[in-house]
Amino acid sequence: MANFNLRTLRRDEWPAAGEVICASIRDWYAAAGRPGRFPGGAASCLVFPEVYEELDPGCCVVAEDGSNGRLAGLCFYHPRETHVSLGIMNVHPDYFGRGVAKQLLRFICDFTDDQAKPLRLFSSAMNIDSFSLYTRAGFVPRDIFQVMTIDVPAMGFPFAHEASPRVRDACLKDLPAMVALEWEISGICRENDYRCFMTNRLGAWHVSIIDSVSGGIDGFLVSINHPGSKMLGPGVMRTDAGAAALIGAELDQFRGGSPVCLVPAARTVLVQQLYSRGLRNTELSVFQSRGPAQVFRGVMMPTFMPETG
Ligand SMILES: CC(C)(COP(=O)(O)OP(=O)(O)OC[C@H]1O[C@@H](n2cnc3c(N)ncnc32)[C@H](O)[C@@H]1OP(=O)(O)O)[C@@H](O)C(=O)NCCC(=O)NCCS
Repeated sequence: MANFNLRTLRRDEWPAAGEVICASIRDWYAAAGRPGRFPGGAASCLVFPEVYEELDPGCCVVAEDGSNGRLAGLCFYHPRETHVSLGIMNVHPDYFGRGVAKQLLRFICDFTDDQAKPLRLFSSAMNIDSFSLYTRAGFVPRDIFQVMTIDVPAMGFPFAHEASPRVRDACLKDLPAMVALEWEISGICRENDYRCFMTNRLGAWHVSIIDSVSGGIDGFLVSINHPGSKMLGPGVMRTDAGAAALIGAELDQFRGGSPVCLVPAARTVLVQQLYSRGLRNTELSVFQSRGPAQVFRGVMMPTFMPETG
């Protein structure tokens, strides 16, 4: 039985971390009959340490094989004002089923318990291994999200901006209103995340806002367009119509590409509108929390980059 040492990821290990993330996801999904994940290979997975270490320096726990020094697995976590969210969790396929993920999760649960905060995450509904890992540790599944995608034409969609003249690019001045809206809708705060996206050191983020007719904002939506991640989210919106308008605007950032977005399955008006625009489901994702979580008071669109609960 290998002995695993838990410690913080070092800067010189980012390429090795990219290898673990890529191999773990690729092998797991290929074994489940869904090959083709991370076509950009391990190098494109550097986006995870790059983004996560910018947001939360030193918040990646790794399990090192004590017998040879290899990285057997790793997990990023994101301490926030109101909660901790668990980022991408990966075990190298050579170490599947040997208790590595369980040890990493224990570390993050202990860290979160010390802060007396809830721990939140998203897990794939088709990935019974991770679903079980989390529910065994006391997580409660709370909401289902449809992972949807569409091929965006090179000329963009006609609906991109026609839906609402109230949609515009966000700027740093919007930050307080964005933080307040997320608090109202989701009961969480993560101001620094949004500052990072709008500062855009990575050069891959975009943020749209929908203004309210009565002043203030009705929603916002972030997206990332990077070889390692092409996604809409995170974002929150007061209404389905606001969400549809923001999705249209952010899809326009991906002309010629095929981004994915996570849409709450219970928001049937929004889901039906997205079907009518041609979006299709690729997977289901489960929002889970260990500790209390407010029922969403509007539309919440999470993302896998950075993983948000
Ligand atoms: C999911 C993943 C992280 C699990 O890592 P792992 O190191 O193999 O998992 P562990 O060996 O620590 O086992 C996890 C626990 O889940 C339990 N488990 C797994 N499948 C189960 C099932 N069908 N029913 C009940 N429990 C199950 C295991 O028994 C174990 O608990 P136990 O030791 O108390 O019995 C790993 O398969 C992986 O990296 N997959 C690809 C990436 C991924 O899916 N990441 C998660 C994204 S949210």
